[in-house]
Amino acid sequence: MALRVGVVGGGQLARMMIAPAVELGVELRVLAEEPGMAAALAASEVGDYRDAETVLAFARDVDVVTFDHEHVPQEVLRVLVDAGVAVHPGPEALRYAQDKLLMRARLAELGMPQPEWAAVAEASELQDFLDAHGGRAVVKTPRGGYDGKGVRVVSTAAEVEDWFTALAEDARGGELLVEELVDFTRELAQQVARRPSGELRSYPVVETVQRDGVCAEVIAPAPHASDRLVDVARGIGESIATGIGVTGMLAVELFETADERVLVNELAMRPHNSGHWSQDGAVTSQFEQHLRAVLDLPLGDPEPRQPWSVMVNILGGPSSGGLDDRFAGAMAAHPAAKIHTYGKAPRPGRKVGHVTVAGPDLDEVAYEARAAAAHFDG
Ligand SMILES: Nc1ncnc2c1ncn2[C@@H]1O[C@H](COP(=O)(O)OP(=O)(O)OP(=O)(O)O)[C@@H](O)[C@H]1O
Ligand SMILES: [Mg+2]
Repeated sequence: MALRVGVVGGGQLARMMIAPAVELGVELRVLAEEPGMAAALAASEVGDYRDAETVLAFARDVDVVTFDHEHVPQEVLRVLVDAGVAVHPGPEALRYAQDKLLMRARLAELGMPQPEWAAVAEASELQDFLDAHGGRAVVKTPRGGYDGKGVRVVSTAAEVEDWFTALAEDARGGELLVEELVDFTRELAQQVARRPSGELRSYPVVETVQRDGVCAEVIAPAPHASDRLVDVARGIGESIATGIGVTGMLAVELFETADERVLVNELAMRPHNSGHWSQDGAVTSQFEQHLRAVLDLPLGDPEPRQPWSVMVNILGGPSSGGLDDRFAGAMAAHPAAKIHTYGKAPRPGRKVGHVTVAGPDLDEVAYEARAAAAHFDG
């Protein structure tokens, strides 16, 4: 009988697990938030991931439960574990991707390099941090942020008054995370796969480019990376994967500074936008690797197939018509480009697809990927 993986969440990450699942003969089932989502092709159920009974019923029919996002509440995860369901990543690891304050505290315990930070419960505490850090800082809501929502650069506490008010009204209470504003030269991401029995496989460190807080482009491997940088990034990724017991794919978002330091920005425990290049540029894609890891199967080779891969996100998509209206033009002009779309309606700023080009010459690959992706804009 086929191995069965259940994915909670019906977005594009679940969608992109479908192709490798089909190839491997793994049965993929998806608990989607609503009908017609990106992973609708594999959606066997639509239901609320915050409802323990719904998720448990879904879990009963699969060998392992994994995730498209990190929003499944701890209480629900505990119900699954207590019922004997295999959950990867497990709640003990996933909490560090769910709550950025918990993450900062745990990374400090693990001795990982990170921006200076503090937990602040009120405006005066934030003001103290600002005074001590040159008058500017980055404030983050610890839970529920994505694509830069929940991240603000501020120079006065008044700029996050609404967040303090919301905290006061939240029954869970809590604090905001404040971080030093890192003067980074670029952003990097390190991906590591880890299976329950402990085997690790690390992808090459990549460069990520964010625009308006959203990932716009990824270059794999990161250009001009010294051997030291490659080793440091890999060491950080593997220490975190082992230190917090991640199972499945881990992405560690990093800042590189002018004085050659590498600081951890945040963690994701699932396939990640910084690894989409691997579908077309690596021996084993992050989506196949995630399935192998959560099923505790031997991991695949994460090495690049080509010297360079560039992945460009399609953000927003065409202002009129569907993405498929643009296929012919993009395909005719850029036959080497691999086009991926998520079956999502175009909307300003929304991630609706991506394009990857892999090859021996970085300038050429970057040009092709950007030009092909541009066919889907405007
Ligand atoms: N301490 C910092 N100093 C400077 N820039 C920062 C800092 N923290 C975050 N940023 C910028 O804001 C972006 C988004 O921050 P972060 O990754 O914490 O938010 P997010 O909404 O969880 O992101 P994601 O889209 O990855 O889910 C970062 O990629 C980086 O460009
Ligand atoms: Mg981020």
